Amino acid sequence: MRHLITSGLPYINGIKHLGNLVGSMLPADVYARFLRQMGHEVLYVCGTDEHGAPAELAAEQAGEPVELYCDHVHQEQARIYESFDISFDIFGRTSSSATHERTRAIYALLAKNGFIERKSLKQYYSVIDGRFLADRYIIGTCPKCGYDRARGDQCEGCSSLLDAVELIEPRSAISGSKELELRETSHLFLSLDTLQARVETWVREQQHWPNLSKQIASKWLNEGLQKRCITRNLKWGVKVPEEGFEDAVFYVWFDAPIGYIGITEDWASSKSEGRSWKEFWLDKANVRYTQFMGKDNLPFHTVMFPAMLLGADDGWKLPDNIKGFHWLDYYGGKFSTSNKRGVFTDVALELYPADYWRYALMTMIPEGGDSTFTWKLFASTINKDLAQVLGNFVNRILKFTESKFGGLVPTVGIEGELELRLKANCERLVKEYINELTALEFRNALRSLRALWVLGNQYVDESAPWKEIKTDPSRAAVTVRSALNLIGLFGAASYAVMPKTGEQLLASVGLQHGARTPLHAYLSLDKVKPATPIANPGILFHQIEDETVVELEKRFGR
Ligand code: MF3
Ligand code: ZN
Repeated sequence: MRHLITSGLPYINGIKHLGNLVGSMLPADVYARFLRQMGHEVLYVCGTDEHGAPAELAAEQAGEPVELYCDHVHQEQARIYESFDISFDIFGRTSSSATHERTRAIYALLAKNGFIERKSLKQYYSVIDGRFLADRYIIGTCPKCGYDRARGDQCEGCSSLLDAVELIEPRSAISGSKELELRETSHLFLSLDTLQARVETWVREQQHWPNLSKQIASKWLNEGLQKRCITRNLKWGVKVPEEGFEDAVFYVWFDAPIGYIGITEDWASSKSEGRSWKEFWLDKANVRYTQFMGKDNLPFHTVMFPAMLLGADDGWKLPDNIKGFHWLDYYGGKFSTSNKRGVFTDVALELYPADYWRYALMTMIPEGGDSTFTWKLFASTINKDLAQVLGNFVNRILKFTESKFGGLVPTVGIEGELELRLKANCERLVKEYINELTALEFRNALRSLRALWVLGNQYVDESAPWKEIKTDPSRAAVTVRSALNLIGLFGAASYAVMPKTGEQLLASVGLQHGARTPLHAYLSLDKVKPATPIANPGILFHQIEDETVVELEKRFGR
C-alpha cells in the first residue's frame, strides 16, 4: 500500500498564520512522518495555490506584477515550512505547466462526457473600476447568516458557498464602490446537478470519514448541487481551451485541487528513477489517499473535486479519508491575515524553535471544535509538558549517567518488578498512540504521548537511583539503563510531532532515527547498547516566564 497525503494548498496572498498551519500542513506532516516511521511508502504533496482574484489583488497591493509576486511569496512560504520541518516530498505550485495542462485535460474529459455547459450570465460590472468583478471582488451581506463581510463566492461567517448576486448590498472589493451593474457575459458551468447522484453514491460509501467531513458533504448534497460557474474574467490563471474565452481563465477552485495531481507530476519529473504520477492517481487499489484541510475547504474536497474526478471518469483515485479542522482562534477572535491579528508563521519562528510550536499547536489542534491560542496557554504547555516533564526527565537522567556512570550506558543488573510494570505501561500507551495517529485522532494521540513521558518521571522517582547508588549500585544501574532506553523510546515516539527533538533524544543514547524503525521496536527497552557513550545535549526546553507572556501579549495584542 502506498500512501498519498495532501494538505490544502496554501493560498499565495501572503504569509500564513499559525491557524492555517495547524489546520492542514502540520497534522498532515505528523501523519506523514508517523507512517514513514512505521515503514510505509508515503508521498506528501503540497504547494501554493496561486491563481484567482485574491492573487491579483495582493500583487496589486504589493506593487508587483502577479508572476513575480507569486515567485516571491512561493519562495517565502517554502522557506518557512522548511523551517517548521514540514516533510513535503514536494512543495510545488499550481502555476506550473503540469497543473495548467492537467486542468485543461480534465476539463476536456468533463466536456466530452457532457458535464460542461455554456451559459450566458449576468455579472457585476463595476463602473468605477472599469471591469467585471469576479465574485471574490464583491463583498456584501450573507443572505444565509447576515455576516456583513461575506465574499461573492463564500461566506466566512457560515461557510456557505454563495453566488455573488445573492449578496445583499454588494460593493466592489477594489474600490468599495456600490455603483455596480449587472451585465451579460458568457461562462462555462460544471453540471454538478447531473453529477449529484454519482457523488452521493460515493459519499455514502465513506462511513469511515470523520463526522465533520460527512456532515459538510451531506449538507451540501441535501441542499441539492447546482451548476457551478468554472470560468472567470481574470487575466491570471489557467487559460480556457474554448473559442470565445480568450479573456477568461478557470475558476481557481477548479484548478487548485487539480494542482494535487499536477504537483505530483512535477514531483515525478524531478525524480531520476522513472517514477510516474500514475502510481498515485490511477492505481486505485494500491494507494491510500488522505487529505488534510481547514473546514472551509471541505465542501470542495468532499463534493466538488470528487464530482470533477467522477465526471472525468478516467479511473481517478479519490480520497479514502478527508480530515477537516475547525478554526484556531487568537484570544477568542479570528486570526486575520488582512487585519494582521495573531501570530504569523515567519514571526513565530523568530521567537521559538519549530518543535515548541509543533508540539504546542498539536495540543491545541481544533479537532472537535474551534480552539483558542493564548500566550499563556502556549507558555504553560511548553513549561509543563516539555520543560518540566520531558526535558526534566531527559536532562536529569543524562546528567546522572555522566556523574555516576562516567557517561556510559551501564551494563550490569537484572530487571525487576518496576521494569516489568514500566514496560507494560509503555506498551499500552504506545499502542494507544499508534492507534490514535492511525485514526487521525490527534488530540488523543498527543495526550498519550504526554502520558508516556510522564511514565519516565514516575519510574525514576519510584526507583530513586540517587538513593540506590548508595545502597544497591547494581539496582541503580538497572534504573539508569532502563531510563536511557526510555529516552530512546520517547525520542522515537516524539519524532512525528517534534522531529528535531526526537532525533536529538535518540542521538543522546547512541541511537539513530531510522525512517523504517517502527515504534514497537523500542518497547523492549533494550535497544540502547550497554557501554555506549551518551551525548548530553544540555537543557532541551527553556521555560517561558510570566513576564515574557506579558511582553508577548503586549507585542501581539490580545
Ligand atoms: N488555497 C485554498 C485555501 O487556502 C485551499 C486550496 S486547496 C486545493 O483555503 F486543493 F484546492 F488546492
Ligand atoms: Zn453566512
